Amino acid sequence: MNPETLTQPTALQRVVLVANQKGGVGKTSIVTALAGLIARPDRRVLVVDADPQGNATASDLGVEGDRGRSLMLSLQYGEPLQVQTDVRPGLDLVAGGPLLAQVGALTTTAAQTGLDVVANLRTALAEVCARGNYTVVLIDSGPGDAPLLDALLRTTRYLVVPTKDDDASLSGMELLALRYLRARQEGAPVELLGVVLFDANPRATARNAQVLSDIDDVLAGSGATSFPTMIRSDRAAALDLRAAHLTPAELVAASAAQNKSRLARLRGGKHRADRKPESTDNGEPRLWSRDPSALASDYQALARELLTRIATAEAGARA
Ligand SMILES: Nc1ncnc2c1ncn2[C@@H]1O[C@H](COP(=O)(O)OP(=O)(O)OP(=O)(O)O)[C@@H](O)[C@H]1O
Ligand SMILES: [Mg+2]
Repeated sequence: MNPETLTQPTALQRVVLVANQKGGVGKTSIVTALAGLIARPDRRVLVVDADPQGNATASDLGVEGDRGRSLMLSLQYGEPLQVQTDVRPGLDLVAGGPLLAQVGALTTTAAQTGLDVVANLRTALAEVCARGNYTVVLIDSGPGDAPLLDALLRTTRYLVVPTKDDDASLSGMELLALRYLRARQEGAPVELLGVVLFDANPRATARNAQVLSDIDDVLAGSGATSFPTMIRSDRAAALDLRAAHLTPAELVAASAAQNKSRLARLRGGKHRADRKPESTDNGEPRLWSRDPSALASDYQALARELLTRIATAEAGARA
């Protein structure tokens, strides 16, 4: 790989990859929640769904997408990326989906075909970033897809690694750390911003402190630490976020509205309000969570920490 192609173009300076080779550790939930919380019409955010599962596109954001076609064509032929603008106010999306599963096959023949997926992706993404003037670009990645992950590690400026506190998730984090180090040795300008503990029990303070300290031991020497905020376990809210395609702020509002109408029904003597039919009287999906605000505040705090760490890294780079 030509190290010159890895010099960071200004346009890619705010690109953050969220990755862990282990599945189900919160990559997609964190990408879409942070994007939803940061994005405003005057503070634009781009989500790149680089996962063949397309969960960020179809489930969390509830967008039909192009099955990953445009991103695949950019990787393969360097074609311009198609961006779906304002899927929420200020939130743009490059859709993911099953067509991205072909990246592995492409890269195995790259030496013969002269294909350079990294150069293709960097050029296409830099062009989109320059046009969109994004405050932050968040890339969601799938579990295990090593060739695509390697290309993303050589495209991004920052890396955020979510993990659960179980051994398999922590091993996934260590596997990713090796890929990250290899990318850096090859001259990729990627920097680890931190590790986020996901699906954590906020009451298990001693256990959480131990896990965060173990994570910081793994990170020792990298200059990075775990994020102080962890994302609490809240299965009901997680189900709602995905099934109803809501961002955390949207869920907090929807849940408050539903609680209000439930209260009104109870006052009116309808005692079957807890039966949770498929949808409410006005056709909105029935929500399982009564109070998703604690989870939403975790994401809000994490969003602040992420932006602060980016600002600190940029100040360090200027100095
Ligand atoms: N706060 C939470 N508490 C409990 N479960 C959650 C929470 N947030 C999300 N989940 C659930 O955890 C599962 C994994 O989350 P998510 O899809 O974000 O992980 P992922 O790392 O992107 O997974 P994959 O590797 O398959 O892409 C999902 O079923 C999701 O609904
Ligand atoms: Mg995912």
